[in-house]
Amino acid sequence: MIKPRPAIENLKKYRPPQEGRGGKMRLDFNENTVGCPPQVIRALRRALNPEMMTRYPEYDEGRRTLAAYFCVKPEEMVLANGTDDAIKMVCDTFVDPGHALLVPAPTFPVYEFFHNVAGGKTLRIRYDERFRLPAHDFVATLKKERVRWVALANPNNPTGTQIPKSALKSILLAAPQTVVLVDEAYQDFSGQTILPWIRRYPNLIVTRTFSKAFGLAALRMGCLFANPQLIEPLQRGQNPFAVNSLALMCACIAIRYDENVRKYTQTIRANRVGLCRWLDAHDIPYVPSSANFVLTRVGERAPEIARLLREKKILVRDWSYDPHLKGYLRFTVGSQAQTRRLMSELERLKHLIQTPNGARAWKNMVVYSSAGWFA
Ligand SMILES: Cc1ncc(COP(=O)(O)O)c(C=O)c1O
Repeated sequence: MIKPRPAIENLKKYRPPQEGRGGKMRLDFNENTVGCPPQVIRALRRALNPEMMTRYPEYDEGRRTLAAYFCVKPEEMVLANGTDDAIKMVCDTFVDPGHALLVPAPTFPVYEFFHNVAGGKTLRIRYDERFRLPAHDFVATLKKERVRWVALANPNNPTGTQIPKSALKSILLAAPQTVVLVDEAYQDFSGQTILPWIRRYPNLIVTRTFSKAFGLAALRMGCLFANPQLIEPLQRGQNPFAVNSLALMCACIAIRYDENVRKYTQTIRANRVGLCRWLDAHDIPYVPSSANFVLTRVGERAPEIARLLREKKILVRDWSYDPHLKGYLRFTVGSQAQTRRLMSELERLKHLIQTPNGARAWKNMVVYSSAGWFA
């Protein structure tokens, strides 16, 4: 029996996305629920030919095009096979066994996953009861502990909450020798970015993806941005052909039609307001979101509600496996028709949903409603 590295031996199995999602209403992975710009599909069909398939990818022109779109220099950017690959790149470059990662909890689990693969240990600081990032605790930990890198999703998944710029600034300044990765996967929905700060903070890495608003999750295309001094080692250790030619070509076409993406994000924001109004009207608490999803507290029967929705071919994400998010479902916001369908199915399941006034489980909980946060 050939043994793997200890880090792999100790690794808990990653829970892969569910299979068999085709043909269902996918409100579970925060994807674009409508489709990528049709021009991308047309260009892809035109580009496909046997000769192009035989060639290894060439990156220079695509990198220049994407850099111009994001208003950075090519040397301030690395192409990645999705944000997941960018996260792995950070671990490959900076993490040795025993190094510490600092993350908020709950957050996107892939930071910790690749950090564990590298043999690192993780320090977690919980969001407070109103799902605000305790920035002071981050700063205090960074001053006290040796932390190799910090990962912050902004907006955060699964809460949808934004981290104020002042908090990001204090974290970046607290430990200049600590790499701070700010994952802006949902930036297109929030409108807030700190991408230009890569010129101000030498320890900052920002990531963006084409998987969400742009609707290209299947292709796996992301970008990592930082100061050239930080980019250089990341690039040195990178898989030389991590990004495939078609993904890069499609990203370059998608940005030409980013008007489609703007319209899509506007629609999603409007539908998010609609969904939240409906939740308010039904006294169902949720976390106010800046992303394309809403974390909603439906109570102890959350797994059953998710299952019944699945029977109706609506997929939602059940976060009950996290001990601090028992009773929470995360709904991706889709088109108006999709959102209406979700609301009408939830209406049908209303008898299973626990509202703050109706359930003992809600005693002493801080929850959100149209009137704001209350205990
Ligand atoms: C915060 C966050 N970052 C990154 C990703 C994954 O991005 P990609 O598809 O580019 O790997 C997700 C996907 O759900 C996410 O929620």
